[in-house]
Amino acid sequence: MRHKSVLIGKDNEAIPILLQIHCSIENPLILDCTYNTGKMWKGLNYNPHRMDINPKLDLDTVGDFSNMPFENESFDVIVFDPPHLPTHAASENSSKIWEKCYGITSQGIGRDGDNVIDLFLPFLKEAKRVLKKDGIILAKIADLVHNHRQQWQQVDFVNAVRSLNMTPCDMLIKCDPSAGNLTSSKWENVKHLRKAHCYWIVVRNSNKCECK
Ligand SMILES: C[S@@+](CC[C@H](N)C(=O)[O-])C[C@H]1O[C@@H](n2cnc3c(N)ncnc32)[C@H](O)[C@@H]1O
Repeated sequence: MRHKSVLIGKDNEAIPILLQIHCSIENPLILDCTYNTGKMWKGLNYNPHRMDINPKLDLDTVGDFSNMPFENESFDVIVFDPPHLPTHAASENSSKIWEKCYGITSQGIGRDGDNVIDLFLPFLKEAKRVLKKDGIILAKIADLVHNHRQQWQQVDFVNAVRSLNMTPCDMLIKCDPSAGNLTSSKWENVKHLRKAHCYWIVVRNSNKCECK
């Protein structure tokens, strides 16, 4: 069956679809470099190497995705799910759950506050080094509205990929029916559509778009 580019479902349904289409290796070596608690692997038959920058988590490696402690060409697949929300989401006046679940800190960890685009190039350079040739990145990227401005994170991500001569191969739009249902009186004046989707972008570490 040829899957459609829109999935009404969850990350643990998106990952097998993308691996099936874009990774021809039977037991790929997978690095999840932003593992957190690994919710997206729930119920799946993969055993990714679990890395995150937060030392409080249960991990195989504590590390920074812009300076990864791995040899060149170590992995077939790297999964990247950076914190997408603005740093204000972790401020004293906002909900602290964002800090725990998504790694948003009010210090901003190398971000400009509005989005994570400044982290894309440092991550992609390291991913290119650590990935085998023709290996793939599965990147979960979300656009957002912050300070009444649209932040086009998927556009910035694809531009960063191209600048390093890697190939953005495919994109799955995931709409989780149980996500995006939070309400807040702070959003009454927002004149943008409420986001109900994110993108899974597939990047290949070569100029090929499709695998063998
Ligand atoms: C959106 S969460 C990932 C959720 C995860 N995919 C899951 O299914 O549970 C983002 C994670 O990125 C981590 N992170 C932030 N900056 C990082 C960095 N420079 N290197 C590695 N991990 C980082 C955060 O600690 C946080 O756990």
